Amino acid sequence: PLRIGVLTSGGDAQGMNAAVRAVVRTAIRLGARPYAVMEGWAGAVAGGDGIRPLEWDSVGSILQRGGTIIGTARSAEFRERAGQLAAARNLLEHGIDRLVVIGGDGSLTGTNEFRKNWPSLLEELVETGDISAQTAAAHPVLMVTGLVGSIDNDLVGADMTIGTDSALHRILEAIDDISSTAASHQRTFVVEVMGRHCGYLALMAAVAGGCDYVLVPELPPGKDWEEDMCSKLKAGREAGRRESMVIVAEGATDREGNRITADDVRQVIADKLGEAARVTILGHVQRGGRPSAYDRWMSTLLGCAAAREVVSMDPGSEPVIIAERHNRIRRLPMMEQIAATRAVKDLVAAHDYLGAIQARGAS
Ligand code: F6P
Repeated sequence: PLRIGVLTSGGDAQGMNAAVRAVVRTAIRLGARPYAVMEGWAGAVAGGDGIRPLEWDSVGSILQRGGTIIGTARSAEFRERAGQLAAARNLLEHGIDRLVVIGGDGSLTGTNEFRKNWPSLLEELVETGDISAQTAAAHPVLMVTGLVGSIDNDLVGADMTIGTDSALHRILEAIDDISSTAASHQRTFVVEVMGRHCGYLALMAAVAGGCDYVLVPELPPGKDWEEDMCSKLKAGREAGRRESMVIVAEGATDREGNRITADDVRQVIADKLGEAARVTILGHVQRGGRPSAYDRWMSTLLGCAAAREVVSMDPGSEPVIIAERHNRIRRLPMMEQIAATRAVKDLVAAHDYLGAIQARGAS
């Protein structure tokens, strides 16, 4: 039977287990043999127990569990040629040349590099006597299908990535909880949320949480943001609002690219309003805990589609990402989506995002 490897890479995300379960069980149904590559690419580099066969029951009772039972990591070794040689050799030891990779855009980019290097890696492994010429000839290409697992919701082309909805639920629980203590003391809270370069979690949490102000990387504020924020907070108080809340994305900056931290915001409130605001940095609690209903069913559908894709791939076909787009499960070209995602990040880094959107609107 065909042998399929599945791995989770980069930061974990709620729903990864649901995706792994669906990949494994669909692969078995299709007559393929699934393997877990443990701890992300580190398991492929290490070999041995790092690559394990999975049965139908190996993925029982994990649908509702947070995190990823097959482990994840950001492997530095895998970025080096030596690590990739070891990974290729170890995968081939199990006859694996088809993979479903569940991770963020960094992990998918790394996967794509490995895929491109595969023929030259095999050539080198034959030269060094690590694999036979027959083995190399039997597995001329690495066939890869990607799923985007990241709470950041930062892949262009996908409506929602695995874990985003659960993380948003976690943030809203925290906002609701903080609101009651904030209201008791008539306090302002500054809450920092994750998302790396992407402001999705911050923006949606601010909308869904009824917050007063939000700072996101995509919209670096002008010099007057301090006045603007304080006048809004003041107006809220004057209108009888007992609790105030400012959400700061961890990647928020001003237009010069200087980070705006939750503590900077607290200081502004102290200086301009004379109020002792409190800071809460939510941190990894956002990535922990059980996946939401949405993350369970969406990841299950994505995992099924990914297993079907990887089983039916031709050696010549380009890799795809399976993602939800416009409420449908779609096949998106992996390299193009990653390039489009990078382009947005570059724009944000250049602080010209607004200008680019306006230019597009005008044209
Ligand atoms: O990409 C997911 C994410 O949670 C980001 O939001 C955050 O910046 C980063 O990972 C944190 O990484 P780590 O878990 O390595 O501290």
